[in-house]
Amino acid sequence: MKFIFAKNPEEVAQISSQIFIDAIKDNPSIHLCLATGSTPVEMYQKLIESNKSGEISFKDVQTFNLDNYIGIPVEDENNYEAFMRDNLFDHIDLPKENWRVPTSDKDRAEKFCEEYEEEIDKMGIDLCLLGVGENGHIAFNEPADKHFPYTQIIDLTEETIEVNSRFFDNIEDVPTKAVTMGIGSIMKAKKIVLIATGQKKAPAMEKLYREVCVDPQFPISMLYLHPDVTIITDSIEA
Ligand code: GLP
Repeated sequence: MKFIFAKNPEEVAQISSQIFIDAIKDNPSIHLCLATGSTPVEMYQKLIESNKSGEISFKDVQTFNLDNYIGIPVEDENNYEAFMRDNLFDHIDLPKENWRVPTSDKDRAEKFCEEYEEEIDKMGIDLCLLGVGENGHIAFNEPADKHFPYTQIIDLTEETIEVNSRFFDNIEDVPTKAVTMGIGSIMKAKKIVLIATGQKKAPAMEKLYREVCVDPQFPISMLYLHPDVTIITDSIEA
């Protein structure tokens, strides 16, 4: 696992977006995995700028998103499909048929998980962007004794519901379930870049950097089992 210690969120966005820009230049039909949350917004802004200036094109890129809440309509800004459209997809030349965001429809969720994993296996993922929750969750793989090799429906922890309630009017509006790529699905990516910014992520970054061990109650630590992970953070110093 490689750590890059940045000065501020702007530098995290700059370094991470450059990795994606270089990867797209290198392979214009690259398969990406993308994340939601406030952390990647600035990085997506830089990808949009790069696309608008003609430096890179997304026309042959394929994307998979990590996760989505169950039970939030697609028109709602808290739906991760709406988030991706607002923050990236609607501003770049990525064709509609090239992006995939997990369903938020509870009646389709189970079947979706199976089909999504098959598609990931068939197509492969070259480069995956991750954020991290304050409790160390990646995508929506929460701290637990057992983890999933495949895309799954999971229960969100009280802690995540509380932290993510900042995006909702009331905490009661936060969904309790989500569809998420499993730890195993994420591990299928050839290369992983994880970004974490700000003091709220400092305890998780500190633990990851100092403890260097794999603990299922701290899901991000499972990335130590992957051969090509880069963590870019301004939350702690070396
Ligand atoms: C959500 C997402 C995660 C994301 C996390 C951190 O829970 N499922 O994929 O990493 O939020 O979000 P933020 O970047 O807003 O701190």
